[in-house]
Amino acid sequence: GVKIVTIGGGSSYTPELVEGFIKRYDELPVRELWLVDIEAGKEKLEIVGNLAKRMVAKAGLPIEVHLTLDRREALKGADFVTTQFRVGLLEARAKDEKIPLKYNVIGQETNGPGGLFKGLRTIPVILEICKDIEELCPEAWLVNFTNPAGMVTESILRYSNIKKVVGLCNVPIGMRMGIAKSLNVEPERVQVNFAGLNHMVYGLDTFVDGVSVQEQVIEAMANPDNALTMKNISGLSWEPDFIRGLGVIPCGYHRYYYKTDEMLQEEVEKAETEGTRAEVVQRLEKELFELYKDETLDIKPPQLEKRGGAYYSDAACSLINSIYNDKRDIQPVNTRNNGAIASIPEDSAVEVNCVITKDGPKPISVGDLPVAVRGLVQQIKSFERVAAEAAVTGDYNTALLAMTINPLVPSDKIAKQILDEMLEAHKEHLPQF
Ligand code: NAD
Ligand code: G6P
Ligand code: MN
Repeated sequence: GVKIVTIGGGSSYTPELVEGFIKRYDELPVRELWLVDIEAGKEKLEIVGNLAKRMVAKAGLPIEVHLTLDRREALKGADFVTTQFRVGLLEARAKDEKIPLKYNVIGQETNGPGGLFKGLRTIPVILEICKDIEELCPEAWLVNFTNPAGMVTESILRYSNIKKVVGLCNVPIGMRMGIAKSLNVEPERVQVNFAGLNHMVYGLDTFVDGVSVQEQVIEAMANPDNALTMKNISGLSWEPDFIRGLGVIPCGYHRYYYKTDEMLQEEVEKAETEGTRAEVVQRLEKELFELYKDETLDIKPPQLEKRGGAYYSDAACSLINSIYNDKRDIQPVNTRNNGAIASIPEDSAVEVNCVITKDGPKPISVGDLPVAVRGLVQQIKSFERVAAEAAVTGDYNTALLAMTINPLVPSDKIAKQILDEMLEAHKEHLPQF
């Protein structure tokens, strides 16, 4: 049987994952699921862990669910380690989103200054987890969901000895679903050639039953009713002629770069009314955990769909299933480029379609990206690399460099002001500085 360890097990997303393992049990016989959390997440772990136990019991499957605060105990002999933790919890995310807004800059917990700080808090922890994996379950695959997933994957490739790592995001699968809907065909018939970086991924071509329909998709995306987005991103529509000129399909997060001004105005307005996304999610989380506490609940409640991570379990469980069974199907994941995207270094993490084998993802070569998007992708890769270096070294100038080269930050002076205020606000989670 398979042993899975999930770090950050107290996440409200855990029932998604459990549902995914239950659905695939015949092909992927999970014997042990270890949910790991820390003292601060103990209560959440108990609540969500007990729901997980009820879900498994209802399905009548012999999956043992273990709840623990002892990561090293859990990791022994694991086959797959999934990570979905949040250093500093949603309180830290609220700071990531709010402090930059004071300087008229989008915070954004993965793309902007917020993403830099989420990375600075997260990378030292993931590198510790990597050391534990090396020692306690060296054969295991690490499936990272923790954001900023691109920067985190980059750090693992660059600063740990772990080679068996895959970064995951639900954006590509969400795009595929949205495209299928806009074409009015079943998602299973749609294939998208994805390439780029995490939260910076493009659909280079689209096929229905193997026939390219990219032009139709571009037209569909130019229609405001079809603009792709996620629950956590405002769905502002694109300039139709911009999309026609672009010729590739942008993801929801591209709005932060191509519509920076309108997105900033939206975030300012929301901060004053419903609060930033972290504050909305804090309320949503309370609601979810109230539901999870109900001992008669034994399925994943539909309210979880209000979170941005829809289809998370499909992405994670399909990936694990394909590695375990050497399925050789195609899935978009974050992995070492190995030349698949020209003009991105071979040893950097990219998000690209891969053939998923028992030896991991094999990225499918796409050649070069269209000239109009190439530069932005490279700029974000530079940001991720400099940010990762800052996280590892704790060097102030490197952190300032990362902040300044982020495209959402308009000047070195503002970068320094934001950096200084955020370093102070987050200092308890930044021992390296
Ligand atoms: P959350 O705030 O519920 O945190 C999950 C758990 O992590 C909490 O119970 C917390 O106590 C625990 N935790 C914190 N530090 C830890 C540590 N050092 N070791 C173990 N556990 C620790 O978070 P969430 O909203 O459920 O999101 C979880 C993570 O998944 C976040 O990093 C988020 O950005 C990410 N996420 C990624 C995607 C994607 O597309 N890749 C989608 C959604 C969420
Ligand atoms: C999307 C992204 C994730 C992100 C999430 C936020 O699904 O792919 O990387 O973390 O949304 O969702 P939330 O509900 O926490 O705002
Ligand atoms: Mn994501």
